[in-house]
Amino acid sequence: MPLPTVYVTRLLPAPIMAALRERYRLVTEPADGAIPTSDELRTGFAEADAVICMLSDSINADLLSHAMKLKILANYAVGYNNIDLAAAKARGIVVTNTPDVLTDATADLAWALMLSVARRVVEGDRWVRTGTWRGWAPTQLLGADLAGKTLGIIGMGRIGQAVAQRAQGFRMRVLYESRRSVASPPGFSWERRPLDEVLAEADFVSLHVPLTESTRHLIGARELSRMKPTAILINTARGPVVDEEALVVALKTGIIAGAGLDVYEQEPLVHPGLIGLPNVVLLPHLGSATLETRIRMGKICLDNIEAVLNGRPAPNQVS
Ligand code: DGY
Repeated sequence: MPLPTVYVTRLLPAPIMAALRERYRLVTEPADGAIPTSDELRTGFAEADAVICMLSDSINADLLSHAMKLKILANYAVGYNNIDLAAAKARGIVVTNTPDVLTDATADLAWALMLSVARRVVEGDRWVRTGTWRGWAPTQLLGADLAGKTLGIIGMGRIGQAVAQRAQGFRMRVLYESRRSVASPPGFSWERRPLDEVLAEADFVSLHVPLTESTRHLIGARELSRMKPTAILINTARGPVVDEEALVVALKTGIIAGAGLDVYEQEPLVHPGLIGLPNVVLLPHLGSATLETRIRMGKICLDNIEAVLNGRPAPNQVS
């Protein structure tokens, strides 16, 4: 029996590539850092029984029309806004994602951004490297405390809750806005509030909603103007949840104090207005970027592919 064919659009961590090579025929060997062209994507989709695709691959109806024998599209991400689910469904292609395994890594990164912006970590690092730092001074790079402040979480799913749990170590009050109410774990007291109240009361606002038509530009000029002038906005969810143009204005004019961003409206492009601002920390979409997490995400893709190619239900089907 010939091995089933898998197309993986980007190089994955070594143990996952090794397992793929052992179990399947690969359409092509992805090179490190190489971004597939439209032609390469079409060829890969045309040949594959299973595809592992990335959040940066736009999987639209046109691309899927080339998928003559594709049975499963395993998205190497928890968010799947990059995939036209209706088009996949129409062709009988199962779509899966990688929930749970990246919750902690993404929550940690939201905290890394909160701490970096509040304590001006990146500014300090840049200054030391210039060789112009002349030693400790009482008014140097003064930031903001986190302890005892209010954390506002927009979207209280798995990642939002993991961010909220970490707030207890900082003795922070947690307010959240979410479609459904979430029971606070023992020892925690999370308060569900309408969006405007969370925005008005929080010192830190962290976004954890998926990108859908109703969350696109959820945070725009009106919402930013509801926030405190001392507040810091954190986005590790999806770029288009924030109106970047409005955010640049808010950061430049002191409507809010700072922002920590891991995601952008037009990745990999970053709004030029953000680049020169000292009160913003900008990361290149690192939410799930730990070796352990990326290996776990790969294993989930492998499990889903194996299930579907063997006629079993996919454990992580989203469609
Ligand atoms: C995801 O999986 O959706 C994350 O954004 C990856 O970092």
